[in-house]
Amino acid sequence: RLTVALDAPAKPISPDLFGIFFEDLNYAADGGLYAELLQNRSFEYSPTEQAKWGPLSFWDLVKTGAGEGHLGLGNSRPVHANNPHYLLLNVTQAGDGVGVANLGFDQIPLVAGQAYEVSFFAYQAYMGIMWGPGDQTKPMPVTVRLEGADGRVLAEAKFEISGRTWTKHTATLTPAHSEPAARFVLLAHAAGGVALDMVSLFPHDTFQGRANGLRRDLAQTIADLRPRFVRFPGGCLVHGTGIHAYYDWKDTVGPLEQRRAARNSWGYHQTMGIGYYEYFQFCADIGAAPLPVVTAGVCCQHAGHSPGRGQEGLPLAEMPAYIQDILDLIEWANGPADSKWGAVRAAAGHPAPFGLKYLGVGNEDAITPEFKERFTLINDVLKAKHPEITVIGTSGPFASGEDFDKGWAFARELNLALVDEHYYVPPQWMWDNLARYDTYDRAGPKVYVGEYAAHEKDRRNTLRTALAEAAHLTSLERNGDQVVFSSFAPLLARRQHTQWTPDLIYFTGTEVFPSLNYTVQKLFGHNAGDAALPTTLAPAPAGTKLAASTVRDSRSGDIILKLVNGEPTAQTVAVNLAGAGPLPATAQRTVFGGADADVANTDGQPPAVVPVTTTVPLAAAFTYEAPANSLTLLRFPGR
Ligand code: AHR
Repeated sequence: RLTVALDAPAKPISPDLFGIFFEDLNYAADGGLYAELLQNRSFEYSPTEQAKWGPLSFWDLVKTGAGEGHLGLGNSRPVHANNPHYLLLNVTQAGDGVGVANLGFDQIPLVAGQAYEVSFFAYQAYMGIMWGPGDQTKPMPVTVRLEGADGRVLAEAKFEISGRTWTKHTATLTPAHSEPAARFVLLAHAAGGVALDMVSLFPHDTFQGRANGLRRDLAQTIADLRPRFVRFPGGCLVHGTGIHAYYDWKDTVGPLEQRRAARNSWGYHQTMGIGYYEYFQFCADIGAAPLPVVTAGVCCQHAGHSPGRGQEGLPLAEMPAYIQDILDLIEWANGPADSKWGAVRAAAGHPAPFGLKYLGVGNEDAITPEFKERFTLINDVLKAKHPEITVIGTSGPFASGEDFDKGWAFARELNLALVDEHYYVPPQWMWDNLARYDTYDRAGPKVYVGEYAAHEKDRRNTLRTALAEAAHLTSLERNGDQVVFSSFAPLLARRQHTQWTPDLIYFTGTEVFPSLNYTVQKLFGHNAGDAALPTTLAPAPAGTKLAASTVRDSRSGDIILKLVNGEPTAQTVAVNLAGAGPLPATAQRTVFGGADADVANTDGQPPAVVPVTTTVPLAAAFTYEAPANSLTLLRFPGR
């Protein structure tokens, strides 16, 4: 029996409950959301645990006709100190051209008739004692080509490189034919040398047409969730690869050639082409609140538990400078355009403040004395100087346990407004913990469930996991006065470059494959509310996997009832809309599921299950047959 008290006072709940967590994991940024098509454009790749990469990785020497030459690496006259390496292309015999080629991230997909911006920084280089100076009295002729897999030229542009100072060259290329896996080729046509850096191929067609923007299909898939906030850039990523190699927002803003690329702690590379400006702009473009996370000045969770992995925290003497960086971030986001850091934001194209309200400090930290000391230093300064910013603390990596308790005790001690909880758990855990937040102390800090997902043993995105998450979300809605934000994790994963499963959205260079879990997130995002109506379920027998919540959305005036059936058989539910008064004659009913719990989406195939919406008669009392393994939403105008 399911009873919704339509006449009871509705409990105000967070209208921002459903958001997203973007972490640069699984090639989510470079080779993912970031629309750049070339790989290692700034020659800053470095070895990772997984790959023996170096500055010339993903670039091949190309010699055509009788051309001869070789590639070298320069670092003595960089474009910018933050971007130390560059390519030296030495041509000893021009032939039909000598140069370099790049195949992008597995492929460079081109669409006929679309415009692509090619750009690079270059100067005419001295080839060195062995090879001679080349003829520097004449400019070096250079061609950039986009080639099909069969070698045919799809588009090309010609340039002349002269002078010994770095100059940016650009051209627009419009291929005549589509090509899923093109090759980018840059050829020099005379004996001599050219220095090259920031070699880029960027589609004009980006999400909302932004320059240096995001892949339109992927960004749109994310926007379609209607997220109310975006947490970024991690996760563990914020801790980086060591105590002095954390993710520093200042490395990620300003002109692209001045950003400091780095090894990504998930074992690949980050150009910082998507940096803080791009994250904030994306938030503005999709109407989501930005929720950046910075480290609390300590290493990732493991350091404290693994002696020898490195220092536990930043030396205390360095904390004032680190805290100043955080204050600078707030000025960059919210300060006037004529403030020091607001001017950096304005110069990038956003004179108006971004309206930062939330800041995560720390991620899944071990609650050690070192953590507490540094967190307190940061929090005290933020409280004093920026009371308008809500600081979000952390309760460590688990849903319970010693660190979790310590994290919460510490948050209470500091009277934090919000604590970030994370849990990756079996689907059954979500069913067993539907009452988790019912008893949380309303007088204490509120909760941000910053990372969660139901994990099968084989980590597949099954209907079972999607529905366990749906049940979990009903419990968050019922407790939307206590849990104010939530975000599934991780968000994105590029096929063949995935370090973590399950994820919400999978993709290749050309295709996007949302999971069944994505569908659940979207259904909740599109059917959120700002008040919860008392909803009680009396399952019989106890333990039956049924969950429900009801919200009112004051913007549309609608009431939305959600019912999740995690049982392998249909469940008959007597629905009672108590105290309804006159109801509309019909409601919109959306049913997602009704299939085996084991089903999952397959790339390139139609989804295993899709939501089906119909108009159904509505009454104050009715019997509903909830299909096996299903989520049902009933939406109707309230009074
Ligand atoms: O979401 C993947 C990782 O899980 C995050 O980086 C980290 O916070 C958690 O351990």
